This record gives sequence, structure tokens and C-alpha cells, in this order.
Amino acid sequence: MLENKIITNKTCGKLYIAGEYSILTAGQSAIIKNVNIFMESRISFSDTDEYTVFSDMFDYKLTLEKDTFNNENILQNFDKNYLLICEAISVMSEYLKLKNLEIKPFEMKITGKMERDGKKFGIGSSGSVVILTIKSILSLYNLEISKEMLFKLSSYVLLKRGDNGSMGDIACISYENLIFYRSFDRKRIRELIEKETLEDVLETDWNYEISELYFNEKEPNRKDKNSLSCEFLAGWTKEPAISKDLINIVKSSICESENFLKDVEEIVKKLREAIKNRDKLAIKECIDENGKLLENLDENIYSKKLKELVNATKNLDICAKSSGAGGGDCGIAFSFDERDTKIVVEKWKKLGIELLYSEKL
Ligand code: PMV
Ligand code: MG
Repeated sequence: MLENKIITNKTCGKLYIAGEYSILTAGQSAIIKNVNIFMESRISFSDTDEYTVFSDMFDYKLTLEKDTFNNENILQNFDKNYLLICEAISVMSEYLKLKNLEIKPFEMKITGKMERDGKKFGIGSSGSVVILTIKSILSLYNLEISKEMLFKLSSYVLLKRGDNGSMGDIACISYENLIFYRSFDRKRIRELIEKETLEDVLETDWNYEISELYFNEKEPNRKDKNSLSCEFLAGWTKEPAISKDLINIVKSSICESENFLKDVEEIVKKLREAIKNRDKLAIKECIDENGKLLENLDENIYSKKLKELVNATKNLDICAKSSGAGGGDCGIAFSFDERDTKIVVEKWKKLGIELLYSEKL
């Protein structure tokens, strides 16, 4: 008999450091950083025969009948706002069946919308909410799974929903760490999802890589004590951008650009090494170059605010670029000098850009 207690879970946000857009092509790589602004959930089995789901992103809760997730077509004419959460519950119900567990209705409350005054931060709330829902249900049943399986399950949910992203956000939020991600062929996996059972899809090798990266990797034999002071900064433009739409716009620019994929791939690989070696000059070079490639790729990526965000770092010991799809949301920076951090934060403030998050690395 499972005890009916309230269980809490949380998931972080993410920001792209390098490799955005290029990562949409299978086999390309990106580096993505966890942002420790959290979404939280409370879950318990229902006292009644119904599911109740509430997210503070919306101002109402959803109540669903006990058998809702036994019906395969339930999501067709569904509450639009709660669609993603419900798809995650639906996939997890199938997963529980695989484990021979009884599907019982629950109450789940999600708080910590990653936004302010109705403007999203752009740190991956849709990916985060899917992973949070999955983690919540797993914890309700006392199930533990690997990060890899969490990544596959959450990607499964998003692919089923027709998401056109690379799943880099999911990779980062599943691992809650700075990661290197090499993307898989999503068309192939989407086809598998249509044809095969959940169990078979999860058992298939998707052919991707997720490796956790560490800035301050202490190498035991290292003689030169490289005490690089480095701070990660996220500047929020307060201009919400929709990745899905930007992807559709920028797609053709990627096809037309002869060297974009090759050039970005080289930068990402170099940055992976630079992070490991705490090599400031190489980090700066990679961030600058990747930023320039994005700026040249398509005019929609660098909004006026994002250009200002980067320009504000001129003559400071800081490198910066747009992050993710661009068009607004956040830009990222690495500062190698504490005084310069203060200067840039002040400059950003005057430009209407807010320091959303910072972390010493
Ligand atoms: O703007 P974000 O953080 O959602 O990032 C989008 C990154 C893209 O490469 C443009 C799309 C993707 O899903 O990889
Ligand atoms: Mg974005």
C-alpha cells in the first residue's frame, strides 16, 4: 500500500551558451547551461476519483475524470493551456502500465512560473514543466530512473506534441548541469513513436550524446594553479520571443548558409575544451565568434536590445552573445573581472536589461 503523502519536486531553467540553431541539425552539438531558477511541484494521490492539476501560469485548475488517461484520444480536443502537462501525464500513465503499476488519479500543483508581469524569462519553461510533471509522477510511485531515461521520456512527450526544437533544453534540464549535447535524428524517433510501443522506443539507441561539463574541473596533476575567476551572467531583455516561430523563420537561412553548421561545430568543440581547461582567451573567442555567426545568419536573431546587451560589454573583461533563438528573451555573458561585472550590470540597467541570474563558476 502506497502512503498518501505530499511529495515535492523541482526543475531548473536553461540557457544556450553556444550552438543554437545549428543543434537543430542531427549530429550537431551545443553547450547549454542550467539556470537555477526553479519551478516546483507538490503531488499526492487524490482523495477523490478525479485528477486535479494546477499551474500558476494559468488562473484555473483542471479537473479530470479517473479514466481520462486510459483513453488514447483524450488529448485531441483538450484544454490548450494544459496540453503539455496532460501529454506528459498520458505518456507517464503508459509508462506506469509497462511497470505493472496501477494508475490512480492525483492532485498536482505547479508553482514558480518562469516569468514576471506576464513576460516570460525565456529560460525553458515548457521543457521544465514536462520534466517536472514526469519527475512528480515518478516520485509518487517511488520510481527512480536515470537522467538519460528522464531525457528520453521528456523528449518523447515533446516529440509526440510535434515540438520542432532540438531537445537541447530537455537535455540540460534533465541533467541540471552545464552540458555538451549532440542531437539525435528527431525525424527518425518521431517515426518510431508512431510505429512502435513506448517500451521499444525507450529501448532504442537514439544516437545522441549528453556530457556534463565542469568549469572548475580539478585536475589532480595540474601544476599551474589556474584560478580563473569567472561569473556567468544572464541579461533579460524583457522582450518575450517565441522559439517555435523563430525556428521556422531562420530555417531557410541555415539551409542557404554554406558554412554555418561547420563553423559552429568547430566553435562548440573548441569551447568544450576551453571550459575544461579554464582557458579565458579561448572562451572569449568562442563566444564572440558564435555570436557573430548568429548575427550574420539571420537579422531576426539579434534584436536591438540583444545588440545593446552585447555592446555594453565592450572594453570590459567580459564576453557576451544572444542565447537560444534570440529575438528577445535573454543574452548570456561570462565576466572575468568582478568590477567589470558591476559596470556591465549598471549599463544593462540603464538599457532596460535586467540581470536575471548570475553564478560564480
Ligand atoms: O530560445 P530558446 O532558449 O528556446 O532556444 C532555442 C534554441 C534553438 O536552437 C534555436 C532551437 C532548439 O530547440 O534547439
Ligand atoms: Mg528564447
